[in-house]
Amino acid sequence: MNTLTAHDLPGQPHIAYADQQLMVEGQRLSDLARAHGTPLFVYSKAAMLSALAAYQRGFAGRQVQICYAMKANSNLAILQIFAHAGCGFDIVSGGELTRVLAAGGDPAKIIFSGVGKSRLEMQQALRAGIGCFNVESLAELDVLHQVALSMGQQAAVSLRVNPNVDPKTHPYISTGLKGNKFGIAHEETLHAYRHAASLSGLKVVGIDCHIGSQITETTPFLDTMDRMLDLVGEIEAAGIALQHIDFGGGLGINYNGDTPPQADALWAKLLAKLDARGYGQRQLMIEPGRSLVGNAGVCLTEVMYLKPSEQKNFCIVDAAMNDLPRPAMYQAFHQIVPVSPRSAVGTDKGDGVGLGAVYDVVGPVCESGDWIGRDRALQVQAGDVLAVLSAGAYCMSMASNYNSRGRAAEILVDGTQAHLIRQRESSFDTFALEQLV
Ligand code: LLP
Repeated sequence: MNTLTAHDLPGQPHIAYADQQLMVEGQRLSDLARAHGTPLFVYSKAAMLSALAAYQRGFAGRQVQICYAMKANSNLAILQIFAHAGCGFDIVSGGELTRVLAAGGDPAKIIFSGVGKSRLEMQQALRAGIGCFNVESLAELDVLHQVALSMGQQAAVSLRVNPNVDPKTHPYISTGLKGNKFGIAHEETLHAYRHAASLSGLKVVGIDCHIGSQITETTPFLDTMDRMLDLVGEIEAAGIALQHIDFGGGLGINYNGDTPPQADALWAKLLAKLDARGYGQRQLMIEPGRSLVGNAGVCLTEVMYLKPSEQKNFCIVDAAMNDLPRPAMYQAFHQIVPVSPRSAVGTDKGDGVGLGAVYDVVGPVCESGDWIGRDRALQVQAGDVLAVLSAGAYCMSMASNYNSRGRAAEILVDGTQAHLIRQRESSFDTFALEQLV
């Protein structure tokens, strides 16, 4: 027997084996899969709150607004957890605004990021009374000024600067280098601030940056802070006061033995730098997404078929790239483990497939790119349920209906209680907005 213990899932708090059964808090995942079907996302409320608590510990005694970057996972019940915990929200669309207000988010604690806000979205956000727009270009400043004036308002703005720091992460999720579409170039920042300050429809309140995502080292954050504080000095010397400094999101999580700094340890270093440079009392903001929810969720999927082939064994499961797009998009790694591990005994039928083999775990979508894990040693049979780990961030929020697959259901576990927080989409749901001609 291979006995799995809680220690077998490092970096996955509140997700552990007990009596050979994978649990999320007090719920057996095999029971949830039976009751609700698969694919099924299951989240731990305690894991989200403990990830948030690490930031809160790090910021004790400071003026900090934590704005959850809701693009990571925007289920209403999850937004509600963070709203109740006092968080603000980083949004990037009118859709996210509508969603977070429906979940009880405080508009005054909302910041609106993104390179391409439409006039309609600006109006919607001004009407709602959001806290601040993070603006990324001179052209956007001009449009926001016009929109605000036409509504008889002043829009609070912060300029997103591009500090030109290498976050050492996947190129698709790196945003703070020259050549990215994001932010205002370091050397153009002062000019942009002067321009913003000259527009009567705008009120300059801050400065912000976001250099990328899944960052597992401390140095890029420290370098970014240095560059940001240099800019704050220059901007304020030009007579433009900045109420807050927003350091964006980006802290990574453990997918595959990654060892990012803990949020409190990271911020101990960053705050020491802020103090040393005389900005320790400044209002701070951060926009974490992945690090609050990523390791708090799993995706359950059932093994449908085992398919040996000359070069590879395939384990065909009922979740696919439409449910879990990260491997196809970024060659991302997610651990895959059984919810009810089999003992290592069993017969190998001589074809290398059966109990105990190395598989590519793939979905039913008609694309070779539809894989969830490659070369995984698994002891599985058809009908077994597997858990794809670290699936709390950028999975369901990026899910699609490709191949006319309804999106998965979502469960929030709170202790021994399991709440269905999103129903499984039916085939009819997937074409409900279409019409025959
Ligand atoms: N703030 C801004 C302006 C952002 O663009 C992002 C993420 C965040 C905050 C939150 O970053 P986080 O703390 O989650 O790293 N789909 C990709 C990740 C894209 C991140 C986009 N921006 C993935 O699955 O890895």
